[in-house]
Amino acid sequence: MELTWFKKGTIYQIYPRSFNDSNDDGIGDLRGIIQKLDYINSLHIDIIWLSPIFSSPNDDNGYDINDYCSIMPEFGTMDDFDELLEETHKRGMRLILDLVANHCSDEHKWFEEAKKSKDNPYRNYFHWKKPSINGGPPNNWKSFFGGSAWELDEVSGEYYLHLFTKKQPDLNWENSKVREEIYDAMRFWLDKGVDGFRMDVIPLISKPEGYPDAPEVGFRKIIENVYANGPTVHQYLKEMNEEVISKYDAFSLAEGVGINEDNVGLYVNNDRNELDMLYHFDILECTIVNGKFEEVSPFDLVQMKQIFKKWRDAIHETGWIANALGNHDFARMVSRFGDDKKYHKESAKMLMTMLSTQNGTLNIYQGDEIGMTNISLLNIEEVRDIQSLNFYKENKITHKYTEELALEMINKEGRDNARTPVQWNSDDINGGFSKKEPWLKANPNYKDINVKDQDEDPNSILNFYRSLLKIRKEHDVFVHGDFQEIEFNNPKLYIYKKNLGKEKIMVMLNFNNSEESFDASSINEVEILANNYENLDIESNKVVLKPYQGVILDLK
Ligand code: GLC
Ligand code: CA
Repeated sequence: MELTWFKKGTIYQIYPRSFNDSNDDGIGDLRGIIQKLDYINSLHIDIIWLSPIFSSPNDDNGYDINDYCSIMPEFGTMDDFDELLEETHKRGMRLILDLVANHCSDEHKWFEEAKKSKDNPYRNYFHWKKPSINGGPPNNWKSFFGGSAWELDEVSGEYYLHLFTKKQPDLNWENSKVREEIYDAMRFWLDKGVDGFRMDVIPLISKPEGYPDAPEVGFRKIIENVYANGPTVHQYLKEMNEEVISKYDAFSLAEGVGINEDNVGLYVNNDRNELDMLYHFDILECTIVNGKFEEVSPFDLVQMKQIFKKWRDAIHETGWIANALGNHDFARMVSRFGDDKKYHKESAKMLMTMLSTQNGTLNIYQGDEIGMTNISLLNIEEVRDIQSLNFYKENKITHKYTEELALEMINKEGRDNARTPVQWNSDDINGGFSKKEPWLKANPNYKDINVKDQDEDPNSILNFYRSLLKIRKEHDVFVHGDFQEIEFNNPKLYIYKKNLGKEKIMVMLNFNNSEESFDASSINEVEILANNYENLDIESNKVVLKPYQGVILDLK
């Protein structure tokens, strides 16, 4: 398989609102990113993914766009963007944008027109339905963010569909004019030199015919079987690829919501000409049984190994995926899968050792390179995320949980955890993100966890990330290769060998907070490529791994 730049490259996701504030208004911005490009480059990053930077009323922090070809004024100007793109390219990195094309903002001109009358030329840009026979929404679909997915438009007496908030009406992709509008917007950015797109909830663009009621099953199943994978999704993705992406040296990274190992190939196999890669939700949601906040299960390593294996097998040699342990939609990876207290440093490094040696494109999220952790928001006034706020509001009506418990649930899995300002140093107020009170409060632990201190410490999480990303560039076996699992059912250790041509590595990871050992008679002459402890304890055919130890061996 040919390793194109985007398969081999490491993606660094920036959530611009929280990255770096250049003009001290409490909101991160494009000039703030420009100031940190050398830093990003020092991590050996190849591709920067920017969460949405377009004009938006910010109901969902930019994932509700009201003009696809303009910059959100809080983030800066088009000149700032052009400079950012140029400066990124100058440093040998690429830049991709977040294409939110399943829905737009209700303040987009298209929707404002569409609302005017049933025969407005923009009416058919959206999904409209009459009320059900008993009045009320046309079917039982629930929004991802709580409540019905339909909102009544008083003027026409019809409902419009919004799978996310009511300020995010779904676009009607059946309408070829809508598709052309989106393709034009894509061309606008690609012509500027942008290197591709992360495609927001793209499997949802085709809706099932007749909008049938969803069955009474868990929400994840409803997404898979009703909202995603609609009858014409592949036709649209092929068209988008043929008319737009394939004409440029650009790629697509899709948010694979509702996709499973059985249908992933239809989206990303090489011969399909649809998407270049996607990230799935099985790992990201492995502790979330049903819905974001309710029914959270403890982290289970064997389950995680099975998920990695299942997806590896599903696309082996035929297609491609990207791997992530966190992004702006999930709690912090070290808090979820590691130990953000006693073994903070060890577990953050160990998790990255695992992630950087999985087959696929490596996708990391801002702040994880210094091991940023979840935050405890003290009351609901401190919460910013619309998903958490909606959950809290709904709970106020249903009284399913006490208010304390609802806040606790938000603090555990809520999206604000990943959206607190990046912690640049310990000396400045708000961790150096902004002199002004940030839009979402900084995690007070910036005193201990920040870029500046870690930059100066050779044993820091940050410098460990740097070395891992550098070795990954030098060894293709990190990126793909045959996997051989060892002690697959061990619930504390994750051990595997990988090989590609002459390259052979072995990865040993201890997910437990005490020492764990295993038989090492198969290990001969080795060189240690990475180790989050000073030593590796191999004696008389036994390896003893310290708490959260992670090691990569080069097997000669
Ligand atoms: C995606 C985004 C998320 C957003 C949603 C609606 O899941 O990652 O942040 O809220 O789509 O656009
Ligand atoms: Ca700013």
